[in-house]
Amino acid sequence: MPDFQPRVFSGVQPTGNLHLGNYLGAITKFVELQRTHDCIYCVVDLHAITVAQDPRELRASIREVAAAFIAAGVDPTQHIVFNQSQVAEHAELAWVFNCVARMGWLSRMTQFKEKAGKDRENASVGLFAYPCLMAADILLYRATHVPVGEDQKQHLELARDVAQKFNLDFAESIAANGHGEAFFPLPEPLIQGVATRVMSLRDGTKKMSKSDPSDNSRINLSDDADTIAQKVRKAKTDPDALPSEVEGLGKRPEADNLVGIFAALNGQSKADVLKAFGGGNFSTFKSALVDLSVAKLVPIGTEMKRLTADPSHIDGVLANGAARAREIARVTMAAVKDIVGFVS
Ligand code: TYM
Repeated sequence: MPDFQPRVFSGVQPTGNLHLGNYLGAITKFVELQRTHDCIYCVVDLHAITVAQDPRELRASIREVAAAFIAAGVDPTQHIVFNQSQVAEHAELAWVFNCVARMGWLSRMTQFKEKAGKDRENASVGLFAYPCLMAADILLYRATHVPVGEDQKQHLELARDVAQKFNLDFAESIAANGHGEAFFPLPEPLIQGVATRVMSLRDGTKKMSKSDPSDNSRINLSDDADTIAQKVRKAKTDPDALPSEVEGLGKRPEADNLVGIFAALNGQSKADVLKAFGGGNFSTFKSALVDLSVAKLVPIGTEMKRLTADPSHIDGVLANGAARAREIARVTMAAVKDIVGFVS
């Protein structure tokens, strides 16, 4: 595999209720990686319509996700922030990848099984082909690193499989067109830290999710201080004191989750948190967690509100990002067309 220029790509769906899991699993990583990499962060609106969306809410959610990136510290002047549907090459490359990926690969995707549920016949074709679009998002920019939460691991593996199969299927043409041994890098997932899978506040065995019917199961980035405090106080726990060692969290999913959230928000390890709170009861720990969550999240929520109050500013940021993304996308897509054998 030749060396590819390091580049970060990641995306977040504009489907409402951005929550602490999105923030700790993905968005905080986006901010960190800006220091060391060229980064492209995308509001993946084409992905959102794989299930029904209200057009007005979708438009508001697209702006809200862009605002969340910026409020959390992503700098759209140094890096690229845009929404997917403004760069037509995402859909174009996804089609090529639909023809590279195999039915069997997509049939194994657990997210499709979960989202389609029992009524598979009624799921959209887009929901099934979703991972090919995700592979196209990443590979359109020949990105090498993809910060995501644990739940996206399988999709990332599929993106690597697509890249590898394309490189193999078209090896001769890739070389003949002057691209050497491989056209696409095999993108590496970056799933790191203590909060790669933030769990529901109501059930430590279930992932914190936008679609959970109970709003108390998650902390939304738009929640105010009182709401955050209430949700943390109501969060499910068990009757025992907090353990002093990480091993003691083993069979205690709710305690493990809250300690992990504290650690991630405070930039610590779980062991550090237990050094401070081990042996104590949950109410002391929860008070500290309320203070920490409010201190970290409320300023982001406030800034998101300020930014979304001026949609024309956000739209300008997205249009500028899309123009810069398109420049890279065009070059990749032109090369892909030559490699595949299209006449242009
Ligand atoms: P999405 O929109 O569901 O979630 C956005 C990011 O948040 C992470 N995440 C979590 N991390 C920790 N704990 C949780 N409870 C939690 N819930 C969500 C997700 O792992 C993700 O990183 N398919 C993607 C969007 C996408 C994408 C891409 C990502 C489309 N194209 C290309 C990377 C590269 C998705 O639905 O994420």
